[in-house]
Amino acid sequence: MKNILITGGAGFIGSHVVRLFVNKYPEYNIVNLDALTYAGNLANLKDIESAPNYTFIKADICDYERMCDLMQEHAIDGVIHLAAESHVDRSIKDPFTFARTNVMGTLSLLQAARQYWNGDWQGKLFYHISTDEVYGALELDKPEEPAPYGSEFFLETTKYNPHSPYSASKAASDHFVRAYHDTYGMPTLVTNCSNNYGPYQFPEKLIPLFINNIRRGKPLPVYGKGENVRDWLYVVDHARAIDTIFHQGKVGDTYNIGGFNEWKNIDIVKVLIKTVDKLLGNPAGHSDHLITFVTDRAGHDLRYAIDSTKLKNELGWEPSLQFEEGIEKTVRWYLDNQEWMDNITSGEYEKYYKDMYQNRS
Ligand code: NAD
Ligand code: DAU
Repeated sequence: MKNILITGGAGFIGSHVVRLFVNKYPEYNIVNLDALTYAGNLANLKDIESAPNYTFIKADICDYERMCDLMQEHAIDGVIHLAAESHVDRSIKDPFTFARTNVMGTLSLLQAARQYWNGDWQGKLFYHISTDEVYGALELDKPEEPAPYGSEFFLETTKYNPHSPYSASKAASDHFVRAYHDTYGMPTLVTNCSNNYGPYQFPEKLIPLFINNIRRGKPLPVYGKGENVRDWLYVVDHARAIDTIFHQGKVGDTYNIGGFNEWKNIDIVKVLIKTVDKLLGNPAGHSDHLITFVTDRAGHDLRYAIDSTKLKNELGWEPSLQFEEGIEKTVRWYLDNQEWMDNITSGEYEKYYKDMYQNRS
């Protein structure tokens, strides 16, 4: 494959995937297609923006005619589809936008690829990036003991049971991708990954939001009692997994991606406080008072835990970073890149965040 379309490449995970592919595969033309919604930011790609094998196109995946034209214009052989509305809290406020982009946008892209490839599947691939949230929520069997907090994990065979408008829209998009494989024979792949963290994540998500609030001495709004469990993976390891699966994955298959790294939210918050205080030279416990328990998220899934044994056994992928190392790296990055953060958190977003916070506290 030579011409690769990456959608959502100006977002958090997409920017890491674009960077990896542009640097690692000079023989590929990488076309980054992104609508630059509030979550898309070309500053995430400053270091590779003038690479000869990189092109950026501002476009909306829901614009079917445009998708058809672009597939042809750039002679696209492979699609790595990350563009989506990605934040659960926003999906609770505005589900229509999620159905539009995640369901209709994915369908529009699938149909444009099908139309352009026209049944000649040789050397073609449509790779769809999805989430562990489609599987629903797991129980906490042993809440008082260290992780794993339960005996059950999400497997590739786990039945879909989404609860939020976000996860419902991602589930629908996954079904469409598989339907294009089963109905038309389109070569597709789907991966379902756990929570990502790392540089360039939009600060509405737990980790960058809390790092920034600790730095600014602002409250840390912990939903409910902070007992929900998430399974965290360093974003560069997700990008590495995408690279491995794109090149070696079995067409038509599904792979779960995760690092067996479960944390209760409240414990993550404590690690973040400790790390930020340490790096800022504050005394231990300096920011503990910022923890503020607020109204829980509606339909808040209790526990996510991915079993990625299949990916390890079949394709040899494993995370490269331990969590402690990844978190310290991440906190350092946000503290060293305050301008990136301040550019995002001023203006429009500040107003959104104030409303969001006031509605919860
Ligand atoms: P993000 O919100 O940071 O980025 C999404 C990108 O998509 C943005 O650049 C945005 O401008 C673009 N976009 C949105 N609507 C678009 C449209 N209609 N047309 C074109 N571009 C559009 O999201 P992320 O966290 O990087 O997630 C990327 C993908 O990975 C999503 O599909 C998400 O469901 C999936 N995922 C995310 C995580 C996670 O922890 N963040 C985990 C597993 C899977
Ligand atoms: O599991 C993969 C998913 O992870 C991705 O598919 C989503 O795109 C991504 O946003 C993420 O979803 P979460 O809802 O798990 O991530 P978020 O960072 O929003 O929240 C993590 C946990 O922290 C969750 O249990 C809610 C809680 N939380 C979050 C915020 C923003 C708080 O307690 N307070 C907060 O202010």
